[in-house]
Amino acid sequence: MPDGRLLAVSDLHVGIAENRATLEALHPTGPDDWLIVAGDVAERVRDVEAALRLLADRFAKVVWTPGNHELWSTADDQADLAAPARYRLLVERCRALGVATPEDPYPVWHGPDGPYAVAPVFALYDYSWRVPGVTDKQQSLARAHANGIVCTDEYRIDPAPHPAVEDWCRERVETTEKALAAHDPALPLVLASHWPLDRRPTDVLHHPDFAQWCGTDLTADWHRRYNVAAVVYGHLHIPRTTWYEGVRFEEVSLGYPREWRRRGHPRGLLRQILPHPAPPEQPVPAPPEQPVPAPPPAS
Ligand SMILES: [Fe+2]
Ligand SMILES: [Fe+2]
Repeated sequence: MPDGRLLAVSDLHVGIAENRATLEALHPTGPDDWLIVAGDVAERVRDVEAALRLLADRFAKVVWTPGNHELWSTADDQADLAAPARYRLLVERCRALGVATPEDPYPVWHGPDGPYAVAPVFALYDYSWRVPGVTDKQQSLARAHANGIVCTDEYRIDPAPHPAVEDWCRERVETTEKALAAHDPALPLVLASHWPLDRRPTDVLHHPDFAQWCGTDLTADWHRRYNVAAVVYGHLHIPRTTWYEGVRFEEVSLGYPREWRRRGHPRGLLRQILPHPAPPEQPVPAPPEQPVPAPPPAS
């Protein structure tokens, strides 16, 4: 009987030095643990690859799906590619490391209560999660600009050859739905996506205009349409657990130093997805306040 755990994390953002130290601290609880990495590992291809290599050396299996940061054009990178080509390059690098991607057959995790297929999904967003009263993408973006809440994706994601991100999103949704429809309905799924597949987790966003970069209405019924045991996601940097129509949604982000310095890691560094329920989590407290250095003398 296997006794490993299915664990998850997202939004490691290891391009930031303090988060690299946290990456080094991620260890399995035993030799059979699997790890879902639900996007926003880093911007530079070499940073994503190095982080996934470290994790693949430690965990029995690593399952990755991209976040928006993996898709950004980044000046300081050897991969000067549009986002779809960057994604294909990352898939190749993952395969070389034995890391499962949204382009691979769903790996099957065996738990004490039976097998589960772990499905990394990459469905993007299409500006359909607009605030009330805003009827199209142009209005939605105009309002976000007026409120000063514009996601960096607008400047850093080049969707070529797709005319726009929402066209790429529709293609991703179609491809993913075909794979999910072909999946054996008797084998329960754990869906792992960077963006929440249901809009409701975005109801708590501090800036509601940001929701337009967080997902698509096209995935709203996936947790009901397919045999889904749990949905893992990140992107919001609001780690928590919610339930919709009896399905558990786990937001598993690490987040930026300014966030975890304030709140610590109240759910620990890695979230146990299965078996469920998990043993009590071990929160990591916020680090002590750093002394503020004295300003340099005026010259
Ligand atoms: Fe993130
Ligand atoms: Fe993100």
